[in-house]
Amino acid sequence: MNIAVLGAQWGDEGKGKIVDLLTRHFSIVARYQGGHNAGHTVYAGGRKFVLRLLPSGILHEGITCIIGNGVVIDPQALFAEIDELDRAGIPAGDRLLISDKAHLILPYHRELDLLSEARRGERKIGTTSRGIGPAYEDKIARRGIRVGDLTNLDSLAEAVEHNVAARNRLIPDSTMDWRQVIDELKRSWDRMGRWVTDVSLFLSRARAEGRSVMFEGAQGTLLDIDHGTYPYVTSSNATIGGVCTGLGVGPRAIDGVLGVAKAYTTRVGEGPLPTELTGEMGNRLRESGQEFGAVTGRPRRCGWYDAVAVRYAVRVNGLDTLALTKLDVLDGLPELQVCTAYRCRGTVVPEMPGDFAQLSSCEPVYETLPGWSRPARGVRRFDDLPDEAKAYIARIEEITGVPASIVSTGSDREDTILREGSVAAEWFRR
Ligand code: IMP
Repeated sequence: MNIAVLGAQWGDEGKGKIVDLLTRHFSIVARYQGGHNAGHTVYAGGRKFVLRLLPSGILHEGITCIIGNGVVIDPQALFAEIDELDRAGIPAGDRLLISDKAHLILPYHRELDLLSEARRGERKIGTTSRGIGPAYEDKIARRGIRVGDLTNLDSLAEAVEHNVAARNRLIPDSTMDWRQVIDELKRSWDRMGRWVTDVSLFLSRARAEGRSVMFEGAQGTLLDIDHGTYPYVTSSNATIGGVCTGLGVGPRAIDGVLGVAKAYTTRVGEGPLPTELTGEMGNRLRESGQEFGAVTGRPRRCGWYDAVAVRYAVRVNGLDTLALTKLDVLDGLPELQVCTAYRCRGTVVPEMPGDFAQLSSCEPVYETLPGWSRPARGVRRFDDLPDEAKAYIARIEEITGVPASIVSTGSDREDTILREGSVAAEWFRR
Protein backbone atom coordinates (compact mmCIF):
# COMPACT_ATOMS: atom_id res chain seq x y z
CA MET A 1 0.00 0.00 0.00
CA ASN A 2 1.19 3.49 -0.88
CA ILE A 3 -0.45 6.15 1.24
CA ALA A 4 -0.41 9.94 1.09
CA VAL A 5 -0.44 11.82 4.40
CA LEU A 6 -1.28 15.50 4.13
CA GLY A 7 -2.63 18.45 6.08
CA ALA A 8 -6.39 19.03 6.12
CA GLN A 9 -6.26 22.52 7.67
CA TRP A 10 -3.79 25.45 7.60
CA GLY A 11 -0.64 23.43 8.32
CA ASP A 12 0.85 22.45 11.68
CA GLU A 13 -1.72 19.68 12.06
CA GLY A 14 0.82 17.26 13.54
CA LYS A 15 1.74 15.50 10.30
CA GLY A 16 5.30 14.93 11.48
CA LYS A 17 4.21 12.78 14.36
CA ILE A 18 1.76 10.78 12.25
CA VAL A 19 4.27 10.18 9.44
CA ASP A 20 6.93 9.17 11.95
CA LEU A 21 4.50 6.81 13.64
CA LEU A 22 3.40 5.13 10.41
CA THR A 23 6.86 4.93 8.85
CA ARG A 24 7.44 1.36 10.07
CA HIS A 25 4.73 0.21 7.64
CA PHE A 26 6.66 1.60 4.67
CA SER A 27 9.98 1.25 2.93
CA ILE A 28 10.15 4.78 1.47
CA VAL A 29 8.95 8.20 2.67
CA ALA A 30 8.79 10.89 -0.01
CA ARG A 31 8.22 14.65 0.40
CA TYR A 32 6.55 16.18 -2.64
CA GLN A 33 6.37 19.96 -2.07
CA GLY A 34 7.29 22.91 0.13
CA GLY A 35 10.69 23.53 1.58
CA HIS A 36 12.19 24.45 4.94
CA ASN A 37 9.13 26.59 5.65
CA ALA A 38 7.74 23.35 7.09
CA GLY A 39 8.44 22.42 10.70
CA HIS A 40 7.54 18.84 11.48
CA THR A 41 8.00 18.15 15.15
CA VAL A 42 8.70 14.56 16.12
CA TYR A 43 9.37 13.25 19.61
CA ALA A 44 11.35 10.04 19.77
CA GLY A 45 13.19 8.39 22.63
CA GLY A 46 12.39 11.36 24.88
CA ARG A 47 14.01 13.78 22.40
CA LYS A 48 12.40 16.46 20.27
CA PHE A 49 13.36 16.79 16.61
CA VAL A 50 12.11 19.55 14.31
CA LEU A 51 12.37 18.41 10.68
CA ARG A 52 12.09 21.10 8.06
CA LEU A 53 13.18 19.74 4.73
CA LEU A 54 13.87 16.11 5.48
CA PRO A 55 10.96 13.68 5.36
CA SER A 56 9.65 12.78 8.80
CA GLY A 57 10.59 9.13 8.27
CA ILE A 58 14.30 10.00 8.47
CA LEU A 59 14.60 8.95 12.12
CA HIS A 60 14.04 5.31 11.16
CA GLU A 61 16.75 2.88 10.18
CA GLY A 62 16.36 1.10 6.85
CA ILE A 63 14.05 3.76 5.37
CA THR A 64 14.78 5.58 2.13
CA CYS A 65 13.74 9.22 2.39
CA ILE A 66 13.11 11.19 -0.77
CA ILE A 67 12.97 14.90 -1.51
CA GLY A 68 10.98 15.21 -4.72
CA ASN A 69 11.19 17.66 -7.60
CA GLY A 70 8.22 19.59 -6.19
CA VAL A 71 10.29 20.63 -3.16
CA VAL A 72 12.48 23.75 -3.13
CA ILE A 73 15.83 23.18 -1.45
CA ASP A 74 18.04 25.60 0.43
CA PRO A 75 21.30 23.61 0.53
CA GLN A 76 22.55 25.31 3.69
CA ALA A 77 19.31 24.54 5.51
CA LEU A 78 19.52 20.94 4.32
CA PHE A 79 23.10 20.51 5.54
CA ALA A 80 22.30 22.12 8.89
CA GLU A 81 19.47 19.68 9.41
CA ILE A 82 21.57 16.68 8.45
CA ASP A 83 24.40 17.81 10.73
CA GLU A 84 22.00 18.20 13.63
CA LEU A 85 20.69 14.66 13.14
CA ASP A 86 24.26 13.37 12.77
CA ARG A 87 25.12 14.86 16.14
CA ALA A 88 22.15 13.00 17.59
CA GLY A 89 23.55 9.77 16.12
CA ILE A 90 21.07 9.56 13.22
CA PRO A 91 22.88 9.02 9.88
CA ALA A 92 20.36 10.97 7.80
CA GLY A 93 22.74 11.24 4.85
CA ASP A 94 22.72 7.47 4.41
CA ARG A 95 18.94 7.39 4.02
CA LEU A 96 18.45 10.28 1.61
CA LEU A 97 17.73 10.74 -2.11
CA ILE A 98 17.06 14.06 -3.84
CA SER A 99 15.46 14.71 -7.20
CA ASP A 100 17.73 16.23 -9.84
CA LYS A 101 14.71 18.32 -10.88
CA ALA A 102 14.16 19.99 -7.48
CA HIS A 103 14.71 23.75 -7.58
CA LEU A 104 17.21 25.51 -5.36
CA ILE A 105 16.61 28.39 -2.98
CA LEU A 106 19.50 30.80 -3.46
CA PRO A 107 20.59 33.62 -1.13
CA TYR A 108 18.74 36.26 -3.14
CA HIS A 109 15.44 34.41 -2.75
CA ARG A 110 15.47 35.03 0.99
CA GLU A 111 16.10 38.73 0.43
CA LEU A 112 13.36 38.92 -2.18
CA ASP A 113 10.92 37.26 0.23
CA LEU A 114 11.57 39.94 2.86
CA LEU A 115 11.41 42.69 0.27
CA SER A 116 8.15 41.51 -1.21
CA GLU A 117 6.55 41.29 2.25
CA ALA A 118 7.75 44.79 3.13
CA ARG A 119 6.32 46.13 -0.13
CA ARG A 120 2.94 44.53 0.48
CA GLY A 121 2.65 46.46 3.73
CA GLU A 122 -0.73 45.77 5.33
CA ARG A 123 -1.49 43.16 2.68
CA LYS A 124 1.53 41.08 3.65
CA ILE A 125 1.18 37.29 3.60
CA GLY A 126 3.15 36.66 6.79
CA THR A 127 5.55 34.26 5.07
CA THR A 128 8.22 32.28 6.88
CA SER A 129 10.89 34.49 5.16
CA ARG A 130 12.71 31.43 3.88
CA GLY A 131 12.67 32.47 0.21
CA ILE A 132 10.07 29.85 -0.66
CA GLY A 133 7.78 32.06 -2.78
CA PRO A 134 10.57 33.69 -4.83
CA ALA A 135 12.16 30.29 -5.54
CA TYR A 136 8.85 28.96 -6.87
CA GLU A 137 8.40 32.21 -8.82
CA ASP A 138 11.70 31.56 -10.61
CA LYS A 139 10.64 27.97 -11.29
CA ILE A 140 7.42 29.06 -12.95
CA ALA A 141 9.19 31.87 -14.81
CA ARG A 142 11.60 29.23 -16.19
CA ARG A 143 14.72 30.85 -14.84
CA GLY A 144 15.16 28.68 -11.72
CA ILE A 145 18.30 26.71 -10.92
CA ARG A 146 17.73 23.00 -10.42
CA VAL A 147 19.80 20.56 -8.39
CA GLY A 148 20.76 18.69 -11.57
CA ASP A 149 22.11 21.94 -13.09
CA LEU A 150 24.97 21.80 -10.60
CA THR A 151 26.58 19.10 -12.77
CA ASN A 152 27.11 21.58 -15.60
CA LEU A 153 28.95 24.48 -14.03
CA ASP A 154 29.67 26.29 -17.30
CA SER A 155 26.09 26.88 -18.32
CA LEU A 156 25.20 27.37 -14.66
CA ALA A 157 27.63 30.27 -14.33
CA GLU A 158 25.88 32.13 -17.10
CA ALA A 159 22.42 31.59 -15.60
CA VAL A 160 23.53 32.57 -12.10
CA GLU A 161 25.30 35.70 -13.35
CA HIS A 162 22.16 36.72 -15.16
CA ASN A 163 19.88 35.99 -12.20
CA VAL A 164 22.08 37.75 -9.65
CA ALA A 165 22.36 40.83 -11.87
CA ALA A 166 18.57 40.94 -12.25
CA ARG A 167 18.08 40.55 -8.49
CA ASN A 168 20.67 43.19 -7.67
CA ARG A 169 18.57 45.62 -9.65
CA LEU A 170 15.54 44.74 -7.54
CA ILE A 171 17.12 44.63 -4.09
CA PRO A 172 18.17 48.08 -2.83
CA ASP A 173 21.90 48.31 -1.94
CA SER A 174 22.51 44.71 -2.95
CA THR A 175 26.07 44.02 -4.01
CA MET A 176 25.71 40.27 -4.23
CA ASP A 177 28.53 38.78 -6.28
CA TRP A 178 27.47 35.98 -8.60
CA ARG A 179 30.91 34.33 -8.33
CA GLN A 180 30.38 33.82 -4.61
CA VAL A 181 27.02 32.27 -5.33
CA ILE A 182 28.64 29.91 -7.82
CA ASP A 183 31.37 28.97 -5.34
CA GLU A 184 28.76 28.17 -2.75
CA LEU A 185 26.82 26.08 -5.26
CA LYS A 186 29.98 24.15 -6.13
CA ARG A 187 30.56 23.36 -2.47
CA SER A 188 26.90 22.35 -2.15
CA TRP A 189 27.22 19.93 -5.04
CA ASP A 190 30.31 18.36 -3.50
CA ARG A 191 28.20 17.43 -0.53
CA MET A 192 24.83 16.83 -2.20
CA GLY A 193 25.93 15.04 -5.35
CA ARG A 194 25.78 11.55 -3.89
CA TRP A 195 22.10 11.91 -2.99
CA VAL A 196 20.91 13.17 -6.36
CA THR A 197 18.96 10.86 -8.64
CA ASP A 198 16.00 10.52 -11.00
CA VAL A 199 13.36 10.16 -8.31
CA SER A 200 10.52 9.24 -10.66
CA LEU A 201 12.54 6.33 -12.04
CA PHE A 202 13.69 5.27 -8.59
CA LEU A 203 10.11 5.19 -7.32
CA SER A 204 8.89 3.29 -10.34
CA ARG A 205 11.55 0.60 -9.89
CA ALA A 206 11.10 0.46 -6.15
CA ARG A 207 7.37 -0.05 -6.52
CA ALA A 208 7.95 -2.79 -9.10
CA GLU A 209 10.07 -4.53 -6.45
CA GLY A 210 7.18 -4.32 -4.02
CA ARG A 211 8.54 -1.51 -1.86
CA SER A 212 5.80 0.64 -0.33
CA VAL A 213 5.81 4.43 -0.25
CA MET A 214 4.38 7.03 2.07
CA PHE A 215 3.90 10.38 0.34
CA GLU A 216 4.39 13.15 2.88
CA GLY A 217 2.78 16.56 2.46
CA ALA A 218 3.90 19.80 4.07
CA GLN A 219 1.73 22.81 5.04
CA GLY A 220 -1.98 22.10 4.54
CA THR A 221 -4.94 22.15 2.15
CA LEU A 222 -6.01 25.70 3.03
CA LEU A 223 -2.44 26.91 2.33
CA ASP A 224 -2.37 25.29 -1.12
CA ILE A 225 -1.51 27.70 -3.95
CA ASP A 226 -4.62 26.69 -5.93
CA HIS A 227 -7.11 25.42 -3.39
CA GLY A 228 -6.16 27.44 -0.32
CA THR A 229 -7.22 30.87 0.91
CA TYR A 230 -5.41 32.66 -1.93
CA PRO A 231 -3.44 34.93 -1.81
CA TYR A 232 -2.76 34.03 1.83
CA VAL A 233 -1.18 30.71 0.93
CA THR A 234 2.18 29.12 0.33
CA SER A 235 3.51 28.75 -3.22
CA SER A 236 3.10 25.01 -3.80
CA ASN A 237 0.42 22.33 -4.10
CA ALA A 238 0.08 20.86 -0.64
CA THR A 239 -3.02 19.00 -1.82
CA ILE A 240 -3.06 15.53 -3.34
CA GLY A 241 -2.23 16.54 -6.92
CA GLY A 242 1.16 17.67 -5.66
CA VAL A 243 2.12 14.02 -5.11
CA CYS A 244 2.01 13.26 -8.84
CA THR A 245 3.63 16.47 -10.05
CA GLY A 246 6.09 16.69 -7.18
CA LEU A 247 7.50 13.17 -7.50
CA GLY A 248 6.76 12.02 -11.04
CA VAL A 249 4.30 9.25 -10.15
CA GLY A 250 0.90 8.49 -11.65
CA PRO A 251 -2.35 8.79 -9.66
CA ARG A 252 -2.70 5.01 -9.40
CA ALA A 253 0.45 4.97 -7.30
CA ILE A 254 -1.67 6.39 -4.46
CA ASP A 255 -3.75 3.70 -2.76
CA GLY A 256 -5.13 5.80 0.06
CA VAL A 257 -5.19 9.34 1.40
CA LEU A 258 -4.97 10.20 5.08
CA GLY A 259 -5.76 13.77 6.11
CA VAL A 260 -4.31 15.08 9.35
CA ALA A 261 -6.40 17.61 11.29
CA LYS A 262 -6.10 19.03 14.77
CA ALA A 263 -9.05 18.73 17.15
CA TYR A 264 -9.24 22.54 16.88
CA THR A 265 -7.86 24.98 14.30
CA THR A 266 -4.66 27.01 14.02
CA ARG A 267 -3.02 29.22 11.46
CA VAL A 268 0.29 31.14 11.31
CA GLY A 269 0.56 34.26 9.22
CA GLU A 270 -2.14 36.42 7.72
CA GLY A 271 -5.41 35.54 5.98
CA PRO A 272 -8.94 34.49 6.92
CA LEU A 273 -9.53 32.13 9.83
CA PRO A 274 -13.30 32.05 10.42
CA THR A 275 -13.25 30.29 13.81
CA GLU A 276 -10.42 32.38 15.28
CA LEU A 277 -10.62 33.04 19.03
CA THR A 278 -8.85 36.24 19.95
CA GLY A 279 -9.66 36.43 23.67
CA GLU A 280 -9.06 34.27 26.70
CA MET A 281 -10.05 31.02 25.00
CA GLY A 282 -7.58 31.64 22.15
CA ASN A 283 -4.80 32.10 24.71
CA ARG A 284 -5.89 28.98 26.53
CA LEU A 285 -5.62 26.87 23.35
CA ARG A 286 -2.29 28.46 22.40
CA GLU A 287 -0.74 27.83 25.80
CA SER A 288 -1.97 24.31 26.37
CA GLY A 289 -1.38 23.31 22.74
CA GLN A 290 2.03 25.02 22.69
CA GLU A 291 0.95 26.73 19.50
CA PHE A 292 4.11 28.55 18.54
CA GLY A 293 5.64 28.11 15.08
CA ALA A 294 8.19 25.27 14.95
CA VAL A 295 10.22 27.24 12.38
CA THR A 296 9.70 30.90 13.21
CA GLY A 297 8.50 30.72 16.83
CA ARG A 298 5.55 32.95 15.91
CA PRO A 299 2.43 32.50 18.06
CA ARG A 300 -0.21 30.63 16.07
CA ARG A 301 -3.73 31.97 15.78
CA CYS A 302 -6.12 29.48 17.41
CA GLY A 303 -9.80 28.72 16.99
CA TRP A 304 -12.52 26.11 17.26
CA TYR A 305 -12.66 23.10 14.95
CA ASP A 306 -13.81 24.23 11.54
CA ALA A 307 -15.63 21.23 10.08
CA VAL A 308 -16.49 23.17 6.91
CA ALA A 309 -12.78 23.65 6.17
CA VAL A 310 -11.97 19.99 6.87
CA ARG A 311 -14.93 18.80 4.78
CA TYR A 312 -13.51 20.93 1.98
CA ALA A 313 -10.13 19.19 2.45
CA VAL A 314 -11.94 15.84 2.23
CA ARG A 315 -13.39 16.87 -1.13
CA VAL A 316 -10.30 18.48 -2.65
CA ASN A 317 -7.99 15.61 -1.69
CA GLY A 318 -10.40 12.69 -1.80
CA LEU A 319 -9.48 11.89 1.80
CA ASP A 320 -10.34 8.34 2.86
CA THR A 321 -9.91 8.98 6.53
CA LEU A 322 -8.60 11.41 9.15
CA ALA A 323 -5.98 11.45 11.87
CA LEU A 324 -7.30 13.72 14.61
CA THR A 325 -4.44 15.20 16.61
CA LYS A 326 -4.04 17.08 19.90
CA LEU A 327 -7.38 15.94 21.31
CA ASP A 328 -5.87 16.26 24.79
CA VAL A 329 -5.50 20.04 24.38
CA LEU A 330 -9.28 20.28 24.77
CA ASP A 331 -9.15 18.46 28.15
CA GLY A 332 -11.01 20.29 30.90
CA LEU A 333 -13.01 22.68 28.73
CA PRO A 334 -16.65 22.73 29.91
CA GLU A 335 -17.98 22.93 26.37
CA LEU A 336 -16.70 22.95 22.81
CA GLN A 337 -17.85 24.59 19.61
CA VAL A 338 -17.67 23.06 16.18
CA CYS A 339 -18.22 25.20 13.09
CA THR A 340 -20.78 23.47 10.87
CA ALA A 341 -21.47 26.23 8.32
CA TYR A 342 -20.69 29.90 7.64
CA ARG A 343 -23.02 32.86 7.68
CA CYS A 344 -21.98 35.09 4.80
CA ARG A 345 -23.86 38.40 4.47
CA GLY A 346 -26.89 36.97 6.22
CA THR A 347 -27.02 33.71 4.26
CA VAL A 348 -25.99 30.38 5.78
CA VAL A 349 -23.60 28.53 3.46
CA PRO A 350 -22.63 24.94 4.20
CA GLU A 351 -19.49 24.89 2.01
CA MET A 352 -16.29 26.92 1.67
CA PRO A 353 -17.12 29.96 -0.48
CA GLY A 354 -15.53 29.77 -3.92
CA ASP A 355 -14.22 33.31 -3.49
CA PHE A 356 -11.98 33.29 -0.46
CA ALA A 357 -12.06 37.08 -0.18
CA GLN A 358 -15.66 36.49 0.91
CA LEU A 359 -14.46 34.26 3.74
CA SER A 360 -13.17 37.23 5.73
CA SER A 361 -16.70 38.58 5.98
CA CYS A 362 -18.22 35.20 6.96
CA GLU A 363 -19.03 34.21 10.50
CA PRO A 364 -18.98 30.66 11.77
CA VAL A 365 -22.23 28.90 12.62
CA TYR A 366 -21.48 26.85 15.72
CA GLU A 367 -22.84 23.73 17.28
CA THR A 368 -22.08 23.37 21.00
CA LEU A 369 -20.90 20.03 22.36
CA PRO A 370 -20.14 19.05 25.95
CA GLY A 371 -16.49 18.97 27.02
CA TRP A 372 -14.91 16.29 29.22
CA SER A 373 -13.45 16.46 32.70
CA ARG A 374 -11.52 13.15 32.75
CA PRO A 375 -8.36 13.73 30.71
CA ALA A 376 -7.89 12.32 27.23
CA ARG A 377 -4.16 13.04 27.57
CA GLY A 378 -2.08 9.93 27.18
CA VAL A 379 -5.07 7.62 26.56
CA ARG A 380 -3.95 4.80 24.24
CA ARG A 381 -7.19 2.84 23.69
CA PHE A 382 -10.21 4.36 22.02
CA ASP A 383 -12.58 2.75 24.51
CA ASP A 384 -10.75 4.46 27.36
CA LEU A 385 -11.47 7.97 26.07
CA PRO A 386 -14.08 10.00 27.99
CA ASP A 387 -17.56 9.48 26.51
CA GLU A 388 -17.84 13.16 25.59
CA ALA A 389 -14.55 12.96 23.65
CA LYS A 390 -15.90 9.96 21.73
CA ALA A 391 -19.09 11.91 20.99
CA TYR A 392 -17.01 14.90 19.82
CA ILE A 393 -15.08 12.66 17.41
CA ALA A 394 -18.29 11.00 16.19
CA ARG A 395 -19.86 14.37 15.44
CA ILE A 396 -16.75 15.52 13.54
CA GLU A 397 -16.84 12.32 11.51
CA GLU A 398 -20.48 12.90 10.72
CA ILE A 399 -19.99 16.46 9.49
CA THR A 400 -16.78 15.88 7.56
CA GLY A 401 -18.08 12.65 6.06
CA VAL A 402 -15.00 10.54 6.79
CA PRO A 403 -14.04 8.34 9.73
CA ALA A 404 -11.18 9.20 12.07
CA SER A 405 -8.82 6.22 12.03
CA ILE A 406 -6.17 7.74 14.25
CA VAL A 407 -6.53 9.85 17.39
CA SER A 408 -3.52 11.49 18.99
CA THR A 409 -3.65 12.22 22.71
CA GLY A 410 -0.19 13.55 23.49
CA SER A 411 3.14 14.46 21.96
CA ASP A 412 4.86 11.11 22.40
CA ARG A 413 4.82 8.50 19.64
CA GLU A 414 3.01 6.12 21.97
CA ASP A 415 0.20 8.56 22.79
CA THR A 416 -1.66 7.57 19.67
CA ILE A 417 -4.70 5.42 19.01
CA LEU A 418 -4.99 3.50 15.75
CA ARG A 419 -8.62 2.45 15.92
CA GLU A 420 -9.28 -1.22 15.42
CA GLY A 421 -11.09 -2.01 12.18
CA SER A 422 -10.59 1.54 10.91
CA VAL A 423 -9.68 2.44 7.33
CA ALA A 424 -6.03 3.04 8.29
CA ALA A 425 -5.85 -0.14 10.40
CA GLU A 426 -7.02 -2.09 7.34
CA TRP A 427 -4.32 -0.47 5.19
CA PHE A 428 -1.60 -1.60 7.54
CA ARG A 429 -3.03 -5.06 8.25
CA ARG A 430 -2.22 -6.22 4.71
P1 IMP B 1 5.75 30.78 2.83
O1 IMP B 1 5.46 29.35 2.58
O2 IMP B 1 6.97 31.02 3.68
O3 IMP B 1 5.78 31.59 1.56
O4 IMP B 1 4.53 31.39 3.68
C1 IMP B 1 3.23 31.52 3.14
C2 IMP B 1 2.17 31.24 4.21
O5 IMP B 1 2.19 29.86 4.55
C3 IMP B 1 2.39 31.99 5.53
O6 IMP B 1 1.11 32.30 6.07
C4 IMP B 1 3.08 30.97 6.41
O7 IMP B 1 2.88 31.22 7.77
C5 IMP B 1 2.39 29.70 5.95
N1 IMP B 1 3.21 28.50 6.14
C6 IMP B 1 4.25 28.10 5.40
N2 IMP B 1 4.74 26.94 5.86
C7 IMP B 1 3.97 26.59 6.89
C8 IMP B 1 3.95 25.46 7.75
O8 IMP B 1 4.74 24.52 7.64
N3 IMP B 1 2.98 25.47 8.72
C9 IMP B 1 2.08 26.45 8.83
N4 IMP B 1 2.05 27.52 8.05
C10 IMP B 1 2.99 27.59 7.08
